[in-house]
Amino acid sequence: MSDLLDPKLQQESDINEESLLRPRKFSEFVGQKNIKSALEIFIVAAKERGEPLDHILLSGPPGLGKTTLAQIIANEMGVGIRITSGPALERSSDIAAILTSLSENSVLFIDEIHRLPRPVEEVLYAALEDFKIDIVIGKGPGARTIRLDLPKFTLVGATTRSGMLTAPLRDRFGFTARLDFYKTEELKEIVLRSASLLLCEIEEDAALEIARRSRGTPRIANRLLKRVRDYVQVKHRGLITVEKCKEALDFLNVDNEGLDDVDRKLLKIMIENYRGRPVGINALANAIGEEAATIEDVYEPFLIQSGFLVRTQRGRMPTKKAYLHLGYQYVENESPPLFKSDDESQ
Ligand SMILES: Nc1ncnc2c1ncn2[C@@H]1O[C@H](COP(=O)(O)OP(=O)(O)OP(=O)(O)O)[C@@H](O)[C@H]1O
Ligand SMILES: [Mg+2]
Repeated sequence: MSDLLDPKLQQESDINEESLLRPRKFSEFVGQKNIKSALEIFIVAAKERGEPLDHILLSGPPGLGKTTLAQIIANEMGVGIRITSGPALERSSDIAAILTSLSENSVLFIDEIHRLPRPVEEVLYAALEDFKIDIVIGKGPGARTIRLDLPKFTLVGATTRSGMLTAPLRDRFGFTARLDFYKTEELKEIVLRSASLLLCEIEEDAALEIARRSRGTPRIANRLLKRVRDYVQVKHRGLITVEKCKEALDFLNVDNEGLDDVDRKLLKIMIENYRGRPVGINALANAIGEEAATIEDVYEPFLIQSGFLVRTQRGRMPTKKAYLHLGYQYVENESPPLFKSDDESQ
């Protein structure tokens, strides 16, 4: 995927500005209304009782605000946050060290929680339920287990793959928030907010144009805004008008639906090589030279959401919208294929 539209990528140069743009309070966090209002209620209730918030799972595609929400939760609770990730916790001693050093009622944020190694996950079970952990001291026949009390804490887990969580772990969360792609109007609001923080002047319609091409993703909206700002600064100077903005976005090769080269290649292969018949994820991955997991996590959710692709029992199929967007003829009511595609998976 081009760096510009990769929702996972967090560029080095963007990190400082990233923290400038990251909302710190619910009032600054645009969209996801249901999730926000539920969390606000839970937080007020927990604060009134003087208890930690129940454990929370945040799931959804990259760049939609999971890390941001975790930090807002800690801020609004008025507690500290400790940040780690599934792959960083290799041994059960890693998680034990963190759990025993948390302060009372604070937030432990585990990113990519679907990638926790099993032994680490097993330590978490008792920690989440009873705020206790069992530590084994010594080895062999002389080994003994001691049970330690932990400070009370709130686990906030984030995942792009909630389906990969084991049932026992999933069951220990009191609330699961599924973040969805943002509406264009919401992204426009995010672009306007970011523009004012970056001190760049932009017309409302130009913000709307960026919003339209941002794949429903705030991280991409902010990145496109910054690259458009650069382009306009060098080529034109002054206010970012809708004309200058379109010129910049075309220059950056972001099409009017926000698709990039890889999206277009993916759909093209489905149309040309498979003639719109169902195709399995592995065959697609091979054909475009990307990992199947990347297609499933990064490309597919947006293509499905925006109606370019459907997932059926027998595989992925391009839609009429995909044919037309890429300039192919679409023949309505053509008889559906009577056989499976070459690749049988899904
Ligand atoms: N609702 C929102 N309102 C305003 N800005 C947002 C919102 N959600 C996300 N952002 C912006 O988008 C950026 C990306 O969000 P964040 O890092 O929280 O995504 P994420 O879901 O954690 O992604 P990943 O899965 O890659 O970890 C943030 O730095 C923030 O500036
Ligand atoms: Mg994150």
